[in-house]
Amino acid sequence: MAVGVIGLGGMPMSIEGRPDEQRSVRTIHAALDAGVTLIDTADAYHLRAGEVGHNETLIARAVASYGGDTSDVLIATKGGHLRPGDGSWTIDGRPEYIKAACDASLKHLGVDAIGLYQHHRPDPTVPYADSVGAVRDLLDAGKIRLAGISNANPEQIRQAWEILGGRLASVQNQLSPAFRSSEPELALCTELGVAFLPYSPLGGIGRAGDLGGRFAEFARVAEAHGVSPQRVCLAWLLAKGPTVVPIPGASRPETIRDSAAAADLTLTDDEVARLDAAPR
Ligand SMILES: NC(=O)c1ccc[n+]([C@@H]2O[C@H](COP(=O)([O-])OP(=O)(O)OC[C@H]3O[C@@H](n4cnc5c(N)ncnc54)[C@H](OP(=O)(O)O)[C@@H]3O)[C@@H](O)[C@H]2O)c1
Repeated sequence: MAVGVIGLGGMPMSIEGRPDEQRSVRTIHAALDAGVTLIDTADAYHLRAGEVGHNETLIARAVASYGGDTSDVLIATKGGHLRPGDGSWTIDGRPEYIKAACDASLKHLGVDAIGLYQHHRPDPTVPYADSVGAVRDLLDAGKIRLAGISNANPEQIRQAWEILGGRLASVQNQLSPAFRSSEPELALCTELGVAFLPYSPLGGIGRAGDLGGRFAEFARVAEAHGVSPQRVCLAWLLAKGPTVVPIPGASRPETIRDSAAAADLTLTDDEVARLDAAPR
């Protein structure tokens, strides 16, 4: 399945600091207007204990209320993380948990099959093969159309590739000007032809706005193009490989509009090299 090269990350619309639902719906509609067709979410994007699936439900409702054609929209959710409601994030990678979480996500999204289901994070107390095996079973059962993993190292990517019989569609890892250590995973995804979804690509909620202040080279390139440093950052990530689809988070229409326009920003080889070499 082909998606627009810039996705939308749903997390800021459901966790600490989230806006009211109307603004979130406007943000999701602005993303769709701007050509975004991949929307990333997770069952764990919520605030209070009783709100599991807050972000999935929000996104499903917003896509359903959009006036235009949404047949090419891929909602990518995740399972394996939990939020007990005290601000912390916990992990459960047991196969029975992942299967139950997927069933709940099907309900939140209101679909018979999830477009892309990603195992959220390896659980050190559960063999990785068991967690990924649960995702394979979900694929075989037709409950999910595509399978992905997240927060995986190269060894785990190869393991998932084997367990899924080459049906690994995506890897979602952190990658940004400040956090570069996912470059080996990106290279492996390019080699395997697997989509690579850089998360927190702008440095994360609360830091993204000051990207230009913290990374002078990104600000310089942005000035030369007359665009935002955030847009330059996303274009820089896109230049890293043909399967890269950054998923910048947003809670305002303006920010996702600005980010989506990175699809039309081409950097020179010299600019990419300067940004690669920029101090972190
Ligand atoms: N797999 C995982 O373990 C994992 C972990 C973290 C995140 N994620 C996923 O990755 C997505 C992105 O990560 P993130 O939300 O943590 O961080 P991020 O994308 O680096 O930053 C999000 C923030 O960037 C701001 N922003 C977006 N575009 C901008 C622009 N063009 N100019 C200025 N500011 C802009 C947004 O502000 P406004 O809120 O004001 O719009 C938003 O709060 C998440 O939403 C989530 O879907 C996955």
